[in-house]
Amino acid sequence: MKTAWFKLADTLIVLTSIVLALTFASPVAKAQGSGYDQPYRPQVHFSPREHWTNDPNGLVFFHGEYHLFFQFNPFGDQWGHMSWGHAVSKDLLHWQELPVAIAEKDGEMVFTGSVVVDHKNSSGFCAPGSECLVAVYTGHYSTTGKTLQTQNLAYSRDDGRTWTRYSGNPVLDLHMADFRDPSVSWDEARKHWLMVVSLPKERKVRFYTSADLKQWAQASDFGPAGDVDGDWECPDLLHIPGEKSGVGMWALKVGLNPGAPQGGSGEQYFLGDFDGKQFTASSEPGSHGWTNYGKDDYCAISFNGIPRSEKPVLIGWMNNWQYASKLPTSPWRGQMSVPRRLSLLKDAAGLALVQEPVTAALRGDHSEISTTNGGKLSIGPQETPFELKLDFGRPSEMVFGIRLYTDEQHWTEIGFNQAKKEFYIDRTKSGTAIAPEFPGRTTAPLIASRSYDLRVIVDRLSIEAYAQNGTIAMTDLIFPPSQSNRVETFSGSGKAVLSKGDVWKLRSIWK
Ligand code: FRU
Repeated sequence: MKTAWFKLADTLIVLTSIVLALTFASPVAKAQGSGYDQPYRPQVHFSPREHWTNDPNGLVFFHGEYHLFFQFNPFGDQWGHMSWGHAVSKDLLHWQELPVAIAEKDGEMVFTGSVVVDHKNSSGFCAPGSECLVAVYTGHYSTTGKTLQTQNLAYSRDDGRTWTRYSGNPVLDLHMADFRDPSVSWDEARKHWLMVVSLPKERKVRFYTSADLKQWAQASDFGPAGDVDGDWECPDLLHIPGEKSGVGMWALKVGLNPGAPQGGSGEQYFLGDFDGKQFTASSEPGSHGWTNYGKDDYCAISFNGIPRSEKPVLIGWMNNWQYASKLPTSPWRGQMSVPRRLSLLKDAAGLALVQEPVTAALRGDHSEISTTNGGKLSIGPQETPFELKLDFGRPSEMVFGIRLYTDEQHWTEIGFNQAKKEFYIDRTKSGTAIAPEFPGRTTAPLIASRSYDLRVIVDRLSIEAYAQNGTIAMTDLIFPPSQSNRVETFSGSGKAVLSKGDVWKLRSIWK
């Protein structure tokens, strides 16, 4: 017979086991809530729990899940050992990080690429009669002192959880040191796979087609064109549905690094036509622009697996190669932009790509803000993350906008300058200047005939601004001394420029 003491000990053992079981049963699920509250940890943007990330890779929607793969160093917070990290989401906002999907192997790093859904098992990689995911990535390795980049395949039969490399890799090898970042999609009209891949030093992208993802036939080249002051990287070809008519256009997006107009890394787009083999850029006004006019949005790609009738969704890496290695964050370094839906605008000024952040589901407490006394509008203190929606109407002021103060010496200015025909973010006084190239002002052309509206998402280390109906997207990192903001309108003459607006507290994606 057990004594009372033994009974107590038994009870304690049972209780301890329950606690341990609860603690370790679902390590990933638990990790999502904790470990995401360090200083500067983005609350409405994805970042890996720890270590380095750069470009998003293989964005795909499959079996009810959005997959975000990303350039990842599993061993540290600087670039290296490039592998594909992995996270999944049901709503594009709340992400659950999973183990590394495709790891560096035998000295071959796994560079940027894409993932497609092979519905009909055209590759032969899927279980008989089923569909599966196929990744197309750049293998990067050095042999006898030479660097080589080739295109390779891996497949997953378990919803992206585990991956097997194709034994016949590489599927494309031009014996070149720079040949990378394949973006692959299914061309439903012509019933074949389409790849657009970069020849960075030539400032070109090359199109290939394939029936089985293994054998590729060269279709055409595009470039040099537009801005050619840096390497061309991370191309993506997107079909953008039309506004109402349903007649869409094609957009070819190309990363440029270094040498973008804002300094360092940037992304240009060409609007035009694609006939299944060749992309032809339109010459209409507005058909060449920048997917982001800030300094911190690079190598954005769109999701595969979203029906063509829907607006494509783009996610970029919120950083710039000029200072990516210097972000004062720990234990992670690098984060993704919020997802944005893309559409097209055609008005008297010409064409434009429109971007709309997909963050409405995170909106919490709302307040409508207004001034009736002609004074300046002041909101706050407002803790990040939050969202502002403002419409300035048609002010006669030449320069106006808002300032986000985190103390009397530190603020970020977001403004419209009608004299210079610019929309801008000035982060010169935002906070810590993490590198000589960091402080400064980013600008976008302001179109007088478009509305002077502004939507701003302020997270702990970033400002994502959308102006003029989403035809301007501007993302800039900031490292402010506090997370408490006082938002004030300003104008050149000091007179009021805004009568009302909306502010929402945004709910953290990690809670
Ligand atoms: C762009 C890039 C890609 C390459 C990857 C390597 O940021 O240079 O061209 O695939 O990063 O991490």
